[in-house]
Amino acid sequence: MLMSFTVKQTQQLSSNHGLLSLRGALLTLAILTLLSFTFLSLKYSTPSPQISVAKLVNPEVKDRNDEEEGGEELSDIYHSPRVFKLNYAEMMEKFKVYIYPDGDPKTFYQTPRKLTGKYASEGYFFQNIRESRFRTLDPDQAHLFFIPISCHKMRGKGTSYDNMTIIVQNYVEGLIAKYPYWNRTLGADHFFVTCHDVGVRATEGLPFLIKNTIRAVCSPSYDVGFIPHKDVALPQVLQPFALPAGGNDIENRTNLGFWAGHRNSKIRVILARVWENDTELDISNNRISRATGHLVYQKRFYKTKFCICPGGSQVNSARIADSIHYGCIPVILSNYYDLPFNDIIDWRKFAVVLKESDVYQLKQILKNISHAEFVSLHNNLVKIQKHFQWNTPPISYDAFHMVMYDLWLRHFTIKY
Ligand SMILES: *[C@@H]1O[C@H](CO)[C@@H](O)[C@H](O)[C@H]1NC(C)=O
Ligand SMILES: *[C@@H]1O[C@H](CO)[C@@H](O)[C@H](O)[C@H]1NC(C)=O
Ligand SMILES: *[C@@H]1O[C@H](CO)[C@@H](O)[C@H](O)[C@H]1NC(C)=O
Ligand SMILES: *[C@@H]1O[C@H](CO)[C@@H](O)[C@H](O)[C@H]1NC(C)=O
Ligand SMILES: *[C@@H]1O[C@H](CO)[C@@H](O)[C@H](O)[C@H]1NC(C)=O
Repeated sequence: MLMSFTVKQTQQLSSNHGLLSLRGALLTLAILTLLSFTFLSLKYSTPSPQISVAKLVNPEVKDRNDEEEGGEELSDIYHSPRVFKLNYAEMMEKFKVYIYPDGDPKTFYQTPRKLTGKYASEGYFFQNIRESRFRTLDPDQAHLFFIPISCHKMRGKGTSYDNMTIIVQNYVEGLIAKYPYWNRTLGADHFFVTCHDVGVRATEGLPFLIKNTIRAVCSPSYDVGFIPHKDVALPQVLQPFALPAGGNDIENRTNLGFWAGHRNSKIRVILARVWENDTELDISNNRISRATGHLVYQKRFYKTKFCICPGGSQVNSARIADSIHYGCIPVILSNYYDLPFNDIIDWRKFAVVLKESDVYQLKQILKNISHAEFVSLHNNLVKIQKHFQWNTPPISYDAFHMVMYDLWLRHFTIKY
């Protein structure tokens, strides 16, 4: 509003008094700009009542984050700790999402398949949004509209890819015909959530679903048309975790690097080929089978400083969240991957992000990281563990709230 007033005022001044008043107009503009900056900075420096509201209603915000109250702690890991804190509080107070009620919950809609396994993030999101304060039953109150299709569930029922595409298309076209909301923005204030990579293929029947809606997906490689400023990278987390969280256990981390898994991508094949016999890097050329011993794979994370996370058949994998959980610095080995919450937290403060071609220098790169740097990475890693964990009901600052925050950031780009 302030902007349009400024522009109008300027035009009026110039047309009434010709060139001479240009200086006056510029002066007005300058004053107004100054005023608006003052207004903005006032808005940010005054203790906002919204924050206290959010804290009152949501005691975990305070309890779980006492150590961060000063903001100093936050500054290391978040791109903009102050904005995050204020904006998060505003989200907690205001953000509303409408879930389309259509579709038989027993088939592909509304309810998640399960809360365990590789694709658990999808199930947790579906369940969490219902349990959360963000749900509204009044579409007029909604900032965003959730299309509750579960592609993981379709997969569980053995639906073919072709049928999935048709099912999704029919469902969304049904919503478009029945409700006025989609047509207002051609879907730009709508989102869907899918962790299984089939979700991406299942939505191909409806180009607007990919082009316009916010896609919260677990496998945001660019070859599936992930658009970073519009879409949201959902963290892939295999829950429940087999063992408790690691952290503050640096003296036990005697192993420099670790990886074991399927060699189902070029980079994994190279990683295993180059390092499998190395005496300092613990790189296995296959998965550690259960027969090897109880939880041998997981226990390896506790003993290691750096856990290598190369892309598999998809760029993402639960290995990144595993590394974070067990306190092992994730080493992201990928040429393109939008890391979850990349726009909120600074991954370089708790992870090592490398290009695939760095695989040949991997050992030297890791050995070059000083002990002090490693300790700093490790301490930061412990601080962000909560962001990569799902809970039911959800807890403030957990994976669900971070995904909601990413959605909240994206809704600002939409205007009716
Ligand atoms: C695909 O849909 C057709 C028509 O509804 C159905 O006959 C067929 O069994 C479905 N196939 C799978 C694998 O879902
Ligand atoms: C939305 O637009 C489509 C295409 O123009 C139209 O078929 C549909 O009926 C509209 N939906 C509503 C609820 O008016
Ligand atoms: C280090 O490992 C030992 C043996 O597994 C364990 O008892 C101890 O609690 C660990 N130390 C830390 C700080 O986790
Ligand atoms: C690793 O050791 C095995 C067994 O000795 C050998 O077959 C393989 O070629 C070695 N790999 C490399 C990269 O040297
Ligand atoms: C490791 O550090 C040394 C000395 O600073 C430097 O010359 C070398 O290029 C580094 N190696 C890698 C792979 O980063």
